[in-house]
Amino acid sequence: MIARRLPAAGLEELRRDFDVDEGDLSADRAKLAERVRGASALVADPTVPVDAELLDAAGPSLRVVANFAVGYDNVDRDACRARGVTVTNTPDVLTNATAELAVTLMLAAARRLGEAERLLRAGRWQGWDPGELLGRELSHSVIGIVGLGRIGERVAELLRGFAPEGEDSPRMLYTARSERPRAEERLGLRRLALEDLVAQADVVTLHVPLGPETHHLVDASLLGRFKPGSILVNTSRGGLVDTQALVGALRSGRLAAAALDVFEHEPSVEPELLALENVVLVPHIGSATGRARDAMARLVAQNVKAVLAGAEPPTPVVR
Ligand code: DGY
Repeated sequence: MIARRLPAAGLEELRRDFDVDEGDLSADRAKLAERVRGASALVADPTVPVDAELLDAAGPSLRVVANFAVGYDNVDRDACRARGVTVTNTPDVLTNATAELAVTLMLAAARRLGEAERLLRAGRWQGWDPGELLGRELSHSVIGIVGLGRIGERVAELLRGFAPEGEDSPRMLYTARSERPRAEERLGLRRLALEDLVAQADVVTLHVPLGPETHHLVDASLLGRFKPGSILVNTSRGGLVDTQALVGALRSGRLAAAALDVFEHEPSVEPELLALENVVLVPHIGSATGRARDAMARLVAQNVKAVLAGAEPPTPVVR
C-alpha cells in the first residue's frame, strides 16, 4: 500500500511482484486507515505520520514500513518495533541532491537572490547602482555545518571550491557527536560545540535529523549566540528551528538572512516568514531531482521486496 505516490522507477518494480494500491497526494487520514487494512507493506513519506493507530489499522499482516525519504521522524519506530514491523529509509541516493540545494540556498541568501529577483520583476529596478543589494561572498565566509552526516559532509566537499584566493580550503566548522579526523584532514574542517560554532560562523547550515533531542535546536537562546549578521540555512526539518524565534532574529537584524527548504507545519508557511524580504523560501525540494527521486523509489522497492522475501533490506532503520 503506497500511502501517496511513488515514482514509476519503484512503482513498476513493485507492480511486477505484488498487488499495489497507490494513493494520491491528499493522504486523507481516514482513507489511509481504510486502505492500509491487511497490507503487507506500507510505503510512506515525510508527510504521512505512521503511528500506532495506523499500524493497528494495518493489522498483523504488516511487515514493513518503507519510508520514501532519508528522514524518518514521521515514523513511530518504537510502535513499529513493538509490532515486529521493519522500517526502512532511502539514504545515500539523495545526499548529493540535498547538499547541492543547501549550497544553492547559501548562495541565494548570501547574494540576496530572492530580493533581487522580486525587485526586478516588480519593475522597481532603476538601473545599475553601486550600493544596491550588496551581499556576502561565500569564499570569504566561515561556514558552520551542524551535523556531519552524509549530507553535511557532502556540503563540505562541494564547498571546497569556495576557498578564498590563495588559500587551500574555505574556513569550515562542524558539529558532530564524535570527532571525524579523516574528514577534518580531507576537507579542512574544525569541530566545535554548537554554541561556539554559531558564534563564529557567517553561514550556519543544518544537517541533523529531527527528534526529541533536536526539536527547536535553534531556539531564541541559541539565536542570541549567532554571529551578528549571519545566515541560517535549513534543508533538514522545520522542527529543528523555533520559527517565531527565527522571525524575531531576522526582524532585529541579528541574522542577516535565512534560507529555508523545510517548515514546522508543512505545507503551511508562517505568514511572518512570507512577509520578510531577507528570507529565501522553497517548498521542501532538497531531493527533488529526477535522478535522486528515481533512485529513492527504486530503493523503496528493493527494501519492500527484501523484507517480504524474508531477507535483510538494503537500508533498514528498525529491523
Ligand atoms: C527526506 O528524504 O527526508 C526528505 O525530506 C525528502 O526527500
